[in-house]
Amino acid sequence: MVSAGILLGAFLTLVAVALHYSKGTGWEANEDISQEVLEKRAESVPETEFPEPMNRSIGGGGVAAGAVAGGSEGELAEGGEAEEAEGFDPDAIPEDEVETYEIEFAKEGETIEIANNENILDVGEDEGWDLPYACREGSCLSCAGHIEEGPAEEYIEHSNNDTLNEEEMDNGYCLTCTAYPTDSFTLETGEQP
Ligand code: FES
Repeated sequence: MVSAGILLGAFLTLVAVALHYSKGTGWEANEDISQEVLEKRAESVPETEFPEPMNRSIGGGGVAAGAVAGGSEGELAEGGEAEEAEGFDPDAIPEDEVETYEIEFAKEGETIEIANNENILDVGEDEGWDLPYACREGSCLSCAGHIEEGPAEEYIEHSNNDTLNEEEMDNGYCLTCTAYPTDSFTLETGEQP
């Protein structure tokens, strides 16, 4: 019994030693076969002249980035124009910067004082004159009047002007419903460009 146990132990020891020394050897065949298969497959695929997919994606990305950059510039330009088109806020004029100007209403035959934070149409109506208007927010042409002295920009500021273009204002036209005086002048009410 004892000798059989010793023999079994010795056998198992030999097996363990044999496994230890044989580890990592004799297992390269599969890799070689895989490589051969891959090479054969590569040979069977015809050559193409298409660019690599990766290159196409990079190229496309570059074009897209350029388009985005162009769009950004457009938005900035539009933003700049929008800022210029915005009217001023008469309520933002500080108390000590309020000034009054003499405005002659030619057709009504009177000259009245209007402050630079007072609306020309409102003050004219306060005088009891039946002046033309519709929207009262600078979006139509009903309240338009003509400044005899010259370009409207030199005599009034609009809080909003969606109607008159630069040329019409250069010719002296203003929207009395959103116009605030910055100088004295003669106004013809009910005059449209
Ligand atoms: S009433 Fe419409 S712009 Fe003055």
